[in-house]
Amino acid sequence: MQFTVAIDGPAAAGKGTISKAVAARFGFAHLDTGALYRAVGVKGGDPIEAAKTLSPEDLARDDLRSLEAGQAASKVAVIPEVRAALLAFQRDFARAEGGAVLDGRDIGTVICPDADVKLFVTASAEVRAKRRHLEIGGDYDEVLRAVIERDARDAGRADAPMRAAEDAVLIDTSAMSIDEAVAEAAAVIAKKLDVVAR
Ligand code: DC
Repeated sequence: MQFTVAIDGPAAAGKGTISKAVAARFGFAHLDTGALYRAVGVKGGDPIEAAKTLSPEDLARDDLRSLEAGQAASKVAVIPEVRAALLAFQRDFARAEGGAVLDGRDIGTVICPDADVKLFVTASAEVRAKRRHLEIGGDYDEVLRAVIERDARDAGRADAPMRAAEDAVLIDTSAMSIDEAVAEAAAVIAKKLDVVAR
């Protein structure tokens, strides 16, 4: 069975947590597509070359979650050739037998426009900055600035900007616990799986 779940949204809205949880619940494979851009961003040198030659070791680096890696990822992500170099890998992953969850910015709009389920997970910039601050520490104001700056770049770029697909279900996690957000996402997926199985 092939079944693709596309989960998009801004930084620290809860996409990663929700994606991992629903992938585990339904037995689907999970790809954090942001990690691809982070790995390209921190690799240095020519980003297009880095995207074309990305290796498992690049994706296993332990500094990919840092604030700097997020900013570097957002900067290389505006380059169309970088996005093009990462496209086939993501599309192949989406067709994995047994189902796949991909989370990112353009999964429902560009990578998998035919995804079975599309979710757009969001939250206020302040809530997201608080969560990221808890995760990585540092100065809260700097984290908030970085979140706002990254949102603007990701949503404002010409190629595959971050936006909700027209047929995406919106989940605002600002006032939700992790369990509530996961339950809402899982309910949308379960409903669609039920229809597909009939
Ligand atoms: O989801 P994340 O914070 O790990 O993503 C890091 C950056 O990578 C994000 O600011 C923009 C870019 N990105 C993208 O352009 N498209 C994706 N599908 C995923 C991430």
